[in-house]
Amino acid sequence: MAKQSVRYVCQSCGYYSVKWMGRCPSCGEWNTLVEELVEKGKVFKIPSQVKVLSINSWEEDSGERTSTGFCNLDLALGGGLVPGQVVLIAGEPGIGKSTLLLQVSDRYTRYGKVLYVSGEESGSQIALRGRRLGISSDRLLLYPETSFENVVDVLQQEEPNLLVVDSIQTLYSERLESSAGSVSQVREVTFRLAELCKEKGIPCFVVGQITKEGAIAGPKVLEHIVDTVLQFEGERFNFYRVVKVVKNRFGSTGEVAVFKMGDHGLEEVLEPSAFFIGERVNSPGSVIFPHTEGSKPILLEVQALVLPALYTTPQRKTQGFDVNRLSLLLAILEKEANIFTRDSDVFVNVAGGLSVREPAADLAVALAIASSKKDKTVPEDTVIFGELGLSGEVRAVHFGDLRLKEAKKFGFKKAVIPASLHMEVEDMEVIPVTNLREAIEALL
Ligand code: TYD
Ligand code: MG
Repeated sequence: MAKQSVRYVCQSCGYYSVKWMGRCPSCGEWNTLVEELVEKGKVFKIPSQVKVLSINSWEEDSGERTSTGFCNLDLALGGGLVPGQVVLIAGEPGIGKSTLLLQVSDRYTRYGKVLYVSGEESGSQIALRGRRLGISSDRLLLYPETSFENVVDVLQQEEPNLLVVDSIQTLYSERLESSAGSVSQVREVTFRLAELCKEKGIPCFVVGQITKEGAIAGPKVLEHIVDTVLQFEGERFNFYRVVKVVKNRFGSTGEVAVFKMGDHGLEEVLEPSAFFIGERVNSPGSVIFPHTEGSKPILLEVQALVLPALYTTPQRKTQGFDVNRLSLLLAILEKEANIFTRDSDVFVNVAGGLSVREPAADLAVALAIASSKKDKTVPEDTVIFGELGLSGEVRAVHFGDLRLKEAKKFGFKKAVIPASLHMEVEDMEVIPVTNLREAIEALL
């Protein structure tokens, strides 16, 4: 039997020590160290069949991928699921993780058995939802269970083609003393699950709950164990949902799959641009930004509202955009374009619930603010992108051609882009700009 030892793991940041301490030296939190059993010599042993070979001698895996049944999700994953791939789906409660996975499970039964392990809902609750979604496959096996050891037994016995674990925080291993959902439990269970799925070649979806405050055992500690991390975004009370690929060992990151939540579950939205700009009203403060982090560009509407401040400290609020980046843009607007917002409340919203993190959105956000402040509309048929430097210079960004192509496809006639990209598009007026002032002069 493997030798066992004990270590103490911080539930807040994952730091561990061989001694118990009242305060974690890494994150400074009190009373967060919890005992965890470690089996010595297990984790770091290299399997005997692994050889050391030169990079040219390794053969690529055959790369056979299976479909999730949703073609936008397959594309976002880089072509489907790879045998043994462990995919973490993170998102706030109620956003639609269980719904999506139940639909994927149902569609996956075309390959064989699917084992859906749920520690969150009872079998009859899931079955009820399944009926609502029109799911009736005999090959979809529901297993309401929270003991990891029992799940392993059933997995060995059933040998399914796909495994779904909803959610990882509810599973616990009897080998550890800490409670279900603690960092040690979540990490241990995910690690062993990943090991098992790799060994058997079974792809696996794992749900990770996160709360607005950031859960005790947030999926952050799991990111390096799993192959792929999908982030569910969107507003719970709205019907659109965006699944973003945050990490992927088998494809590129930044890819998105857009869904619509309806009475029969999630439906894929194949033309997200049409969807995101569909409800646009061209008014001051509205700008179209061609967004892309992965290979598929999406046209998004950036909205800004600038109003006289209600309180002595003006408010800066954003949805889908970094609020610190907004402060920076306001400073640049003041210094380089004489647009003063010190006495104004500024609100920025990316319509559709998608979060934009790429700096290419800078120019669009700045123009939306300038447009609202001046109460002038940006021409309706125009798209804008470019990164802003601190002295107001417009910098080049990636995927310029993809962004312009998408804009043209949706009938946009003008594009304000960084001059350094040197791009031209047939039937489109491309306005190259080198700084913020030029962009404002061209459009407002
Ligand atoms: P759920 O999938 O349980 O979310 P999570 O697993 O992320 O906590 O819930 C999704 C929400 O979607 C729930 O509030 C009810 C709603 N919903 C629909 O609008 N249509 C449907 O067909 C289903 C099944 C759920
Ligand atoms: Mg759920």
